[in-house]
Amino acid sequence: MSLLEVKGLETGYGKLPVLHAVDLRVDENEMVALIGPNGAGKTSLGKAVFGLLPAMSGSISFDGEDLTGATTARRMQMGMAMAPQVGNTFPELTVEDNLITSFSTLSPEESQVAVDHAYALFPRLADRRRQAARTLSGGERQMLAFACASGTKPRFLLLDEPTTGLAPTIVHSLVERIVQSKEGGASILWIIEENPLEVLPYVDRVYVLSNGTVRAETVAEDLLSEEALRTLFFGLEQ
Ligand SMILES: Nc1ncnc2c1ncn2[C@@H]1O[C@H](COP(=O)(O)OP(=O)(O)OP(=O)(O)O)[C@@H](O)[C@H]1O
Ligand SMILES: [Mg+2]
Repeated sequence: MSLLEVKGLETGYGKLPVLHAVDLRVDENEMVALIGPNGAGKTSLGKAVFGLLPAMSGSISFDGEDLTGATTARRMQMGMAMAPQVGNTFPELTVEDNLITSFSTLSPEESQVAVDHAYALFPRLADRRRQAARTLSGGERQMLAFACASGTKPRFLLLDEPTTGLAPTIVHSLVERIVQSKEGGASILWIIEENPLEVLPYVDRVYVLSNGTVRAETVAEDLLSEEALRTLFFGLEQ
C-alpha cells in the first residue's frame, strides 16, 4: 500500500473539469516529482490532494484512509503538509509569527524547538524574524513557506514549485533542505516547473502531466538530460 493513492481523480473549477482520470501514488519515504507545462493542472492536483479543491470523481487516500471528502484540517492531522505556489505565507504577520502560527498543533516547547530549527536551517529568516512576511524577497518567502510546512515534521510534504523564480544559489540551498526532509523520513510530492535538472537527481519517480492527464510515469534517471526533457516536452505539444 502506498502512503498517498490518487485514483481516477477528476476535479476542476465550477462545472469545468481540469483533471481527468488522474492516477498517482507516493510511497513511504519516496520523493516524487510532478512536471508539466504551464496550465497542465499541477497546482489543481496539489490542491485536490490537500483538500482545497473538491474531487468531482475518483478517490484520494492517505495511509489507508479514504480522505476524498475530508477537510484540509483532517489531512493535516493525518500528517500532510503543503507549501503552496501562491499565498504561501501570512503577509501581515512577522516571520516569527508565521512560524509560530504554522506550529500551533505543537506544544509550546516543541514549537520553540521547531522555530529554532527553522532559523538554524535558514539563517536569513532569523535575521528577518521581526519583519512582516510581505517585505521578504521571493526567495526568502519560499524559505519561510517551506520552513512552515516542514517544521512540524509531517509524514508527507506537498511542495508547489518551491524553487521557481529564485536565484541559483538560493535554489541550491532550498533543494538541499528539501532533500534533508526526505532523509529525515518524509515522503514528498514536488511540483516542478523551472529548474527540473536541479531537482530530478534527487527524485525517485516522475509523473508528467499535460492537459489535465498523466501522460507518462517514469524513473527520474530517464529525464536527467536537457535532451531527454526537450524530447518529452516536444512530445506533449503533438
Ligand atoms: N481558480 C481557478 N478558476 C478557474 N480556472 C482555474 C483556476 N485555477 C486554475 N484554473 C485553470 O485550471 C487549469 C490548470 O491550472 P493549474 O494552475 O492547475 O496549472 P499548473 O500546471 O499549476 O500551471 P503553472 O505551471 O502555471 O503553475 C488552467 O487551465 C487554469 O486556467
Ligand atoms: Mg501551478
